Amino acid sequence: MRKTTLITGGTGYIGTHTALALINAGHNVLVLDNLCNSYRESIVRLERLTHTRVDFINGDVRDSILVDDVFRRYDIDAVVHFASLKSVEESVRRPLDYYANNFAGTLNLCATMARNDVFNLVFSSSATVYGDPTRIPIAEDFGTGKPVNPYGRTKLMIEELLTDLCNSDPRWNIALLRYFNPIGAHESGMIGEDPKGRPNNLLPCLTQVATGRIPELTVYGCDYPTVDGTCVRDYIHVVDLANGHLKALQVLQHRSGINFWNLGTGVGYSVLQIIHSFEDVTGITIPYRFAPRRLGDIAKCWADPSKAGRELGWSAQRGLEQMIIDTWRWQSCNPQGYQTSFEIPAPIEAK
Ligand code: NAD
Ligand code: WQD
Repeated sequence: MRKTTLITGGTGYIGTHTALALINAGHNVLVLDNLCNSYRESIVRLERLTHTRVDFINGDVRDSILVDDVFRRYDIDAVVHFASLKSVEESVRRPLDYYANNFAGTLNLCATMARNDVFNLVFSSSATVYGDPTRIPIAEDFGTGKPVNPYGRTKLMIEELLTDLCNSDPRWNIALLRYFNPIGAHESGMIGEDPKGRPNNLLPCLTQVATGRIPELTVYGCDYPTVDGTCVRDYIHVVDLANGHLKALQVLQHRSGINFWNLGTGVGYSVLQIIHSFEDVTGITIPYRFAPRRLGDIAKCWADPSKAGRELGWSAQRGLEQMIIDTWRWQSCNPQGYQTSFEIPAPIEAK
């Protein structure tokens, strides 16, 4: 039986792009997802892109019988664990769901991996574990801070759980990848971000304004100590992010214990810079209005990605214009996301 990489949450936004990167690099992948925030159509699109059959199991990482069965049926040697709820705002209203899904889901997954002698794990962490940093750019050795919401706390708790696991048993090889702000889509326009329900993140909100689904963009805060008063973030192309997972899996072959890597570009852009860049690339004017600061937002956040450069041989290759071109191609070719029948996109040139 061929060695298989299990991708939990693999029909989601980052999972689909990572599955594509892994398949293109010769991995045999198996996707496990309960589709609570994604669509099975993403598997169909992956199959069209790779001309390969992609094994998919519709199931929950908390279901120990099912997950055990998956490990028995496939020869899994590594897991990339994306399955998680990710809305900050929802996590404040439904903390039990977040702790159960994210923390207990990871607990069950790790227990099942150990029972089945699988010890290679790449975990989706987040820059949110740094809390409100005292210095920027943020390097891994600053240590973690205090996440300000239940979602962020589940990520920090999982990081601690995985660290304890590595300390308890030298067979574990774990990569904690701390993502900054993923945006963009694969250049084919066939896969991209399609959250169920109302989006909270900047780019999905912005594209919904561009397509007329939302009348105007609300910009939270104009009085931050930044270049133009709006918050600054490190936006990273999802394809670069996906390639970081591939590198991490390769490095885990000869590196044991717990490993922390920031995946960001090292460059920050303000909300207004993103809006203006989007307008320049697409030629579409984005109506927006300022509103009070959003609870829990920090003024500035960008990565020092040099550790990933040194240790993984990874760095982000795509700039902001490319991120916006690709976001817009995905959105305009798929106005209903994965529920749109796909047509081959025309090339988009920057204005
Ligand atoms: P996503 O919601 O698109 O993907 C997550 C996938 O997990 C979804 O397909 C969902 O259906 C699935 N899922 C959720 N709970 C599950 C469960 N119990 N069992 C099986 N499947 C389950 O989110 P994404 O943006 O692709 O994020 C992927 C990972 O990266 C998450 O862990 C998220 O917390 C983390 N992350 C995301 C961002 C971001 O801004 N997108 C930033 C930092 C970290
Ligand atoms: C970016 C900026 C908003 C929407 C979140 C999570 C973090 C990580 C990534 C998972 C902020 C502003 C947004 C809008 C706006 N997720 N904004 N109007 O908050 O940096 O990070 O997603 O791990 O944990 O907290 O990203 O895209 O929500 O916001 O003005 O309609 O855009 O205030 O300054 P954020 P975001």
